Amino acid sequence: MTEPTYQGKPLSQLFPEERAGWKGYIEWEDCPERKAIGREILKTKKFTPSPEFQLAPIPDTNPVLIGWRYKEYHEALGLKHIVDHSWEIVQKEKPDMIHLLDFPYNGETRRDKLMEGKITDNKYHFIRNHGGVPEIDEDAFELEFGGLVNKPCNLTMKDLKDPNKFPQMELTVTLQCSGTRRIEQIKEYPGEGDELIQAPWGEGAIGTAVYRGVSLKKVLKIACGGLKPEAQHLEFIGADTYFKKLNIFNYAVSVPWRKVRNAEEVILAWEMNGKPLPKIHGYPLRVVVTGYIGARSAKWVYKINALAEPSMGPVQSQEYLYYTPQIGKHNVKYSNGFSIQNMPVSSAIIFPLDKKVIVHAGKIAMQGWSYSGGGNWVERVEVSPDGGHTWWAVPQEQLTQKHYHAWRLWQVEVPVEAEGWIEVCVRTWDSSNNTEPTFVRSAWNWGLHVTSSAHRIKLYSVNTTRPETAKRLAWLEEHGERIEDLTVPIKEGLEPLDEYLATVRKFPREPES
Ligand code: MTE
Repeated sequence: MTEPTYQGKPLSQLFPEERAGWKGYIEWEDCPERKAIGREILKTKKFTPSPEFQLAPIPDTNPVLIGWRYKEYHEALGLKHIVDHSWEIVQKEKPDMIHLLDFPYNGETRRDKLMEGKITDNKYHFIRNHGGVPEIDEDAFELEFGGLVNKPCNLTMKDLKDPNKFPQMELTVTLQCSGTRRIEQIKEYPGEGDELIQAPWGEGAIGTAVYRGVSLKKVLKIACGGLKPEAQHLEFIGADTYFKKLNIFNYAVSVPWRKVRNAEEVILAWEMNGKPLPKIHGYPLRVVVTGYIGARSAKWVYKINALAEPSMGPVQSQEYLYYTPQIGKHNVKYSNGFSIQNMPVSSAIIFPLDKKVIVHAGKIAMQGWSYSGGGNWVERVEVSPDGGHTWWAVPQEQLTQKHYHAWRLWQVEVPVEAEGWIEVCVRTWDSSNNTEPTFVRSAWNWGLHVTSSAHRIKLYSVNTTRPETAKRLAWLEEHGERIEDLTVPIKEGLEPLDEYLATVRKFPREPES
């Protein structure tokens, strides 16, 4: 097969993988001409629109959504191998996920895996990608420091891992995608669509790991001799390719220097839960920014620039913006949303699942997670069995250990007298006395980010301490029927004729004339 060309040049020469051992990496940020040619090619093609899943049902498949458009962008530039290779890595490293979007890969942790312990197994930690997965040999890797640093330099992984050069540290960190629990906002009111699908995440776009690495502050000081006085932000560039409105980029985000200045809050990590970072989580090196939305924790980071202003990369300047409800398609601009950095306090009920029938003897058992970013930690978790009128605190013994930068898992048994459909919700209080608004509407925003309202589910309560209920359950069992099959009609009559007649004659249905 002859290779596709542009103005006589093969695409593989126009968009080359130039560095040996850096598979799936193409440099865009240093190559404006390459960007321009890529845009010219993309402008000549037609691409499949992103699927509608806000006003139409979300498919009941796994993968749930197919990223045709992004696959086609890659194909148009002769980069289909990146798409194929990324899916191979998903199969190897993340076979057992809710594959929310196949490309760029977005994978959500299954509920049972989420609650297995305070540390999420690498195999099940959620994934949010904006492009393909580069595969970079550790020995070939270099991290470049530039911009407003005093001494630009390059460091190998050997340099970074040398404890005589840089002191190493471990941090237990919860990473949470700002789209976690977006599905609740979508169900309430649809919002912004995006060519890179705003995944309809449930409660599983969050996970916790112990990261090992070095403090970025210390590396900047030791290797770069510090920053020039005008430097205010650190930009992180990842080796993956990102498309937006027919422009092409490497993934780029930034955080303020004041965040990095605290040596315990931003690290360059190569290990996740005692193992090398999985390829899909950024091997060989990623940034971990504590307390901020996951987007700032750049994976496959190969360049760090000190800047006077925040990064102009679209992920930083045009996305992850919070648009209050007055703002929507009719008036939205990049400049009228504020940049989401700190993660607000939020929580989720993981068990029971929404719409379950719960047979109980006066108490319903629940489990979930609670997290707060921005330097806050979880102090108190409360569960309401009546939609938010009354609240029961989770006893401290039933919360996992407090961490400065991580979630707490909790379990509780809540007294429930009522039967039938009830609405149960959870809210968390953090160390700055922040808590969650009671309803989704209170925190709804056009970009459908950081769903921080109390998580609310519906349960069908069946209370066996009630004699009539206990009697009916025994009867159902005797007849081989299950209360859990709530909507399946009962095959037998509901009561014997003599009992029916005795009751309706004692309490006639018709009034006296
Ligand atoms: N870094 C790069 N290079 N490319 C990406 O697409 N996604 C970001 C961030 N870092 C991303 C990235 C987003 S939006 C999130 S939520 C986190 O990575 C998710 O980290 P994880 O996939 O390791 O869980």
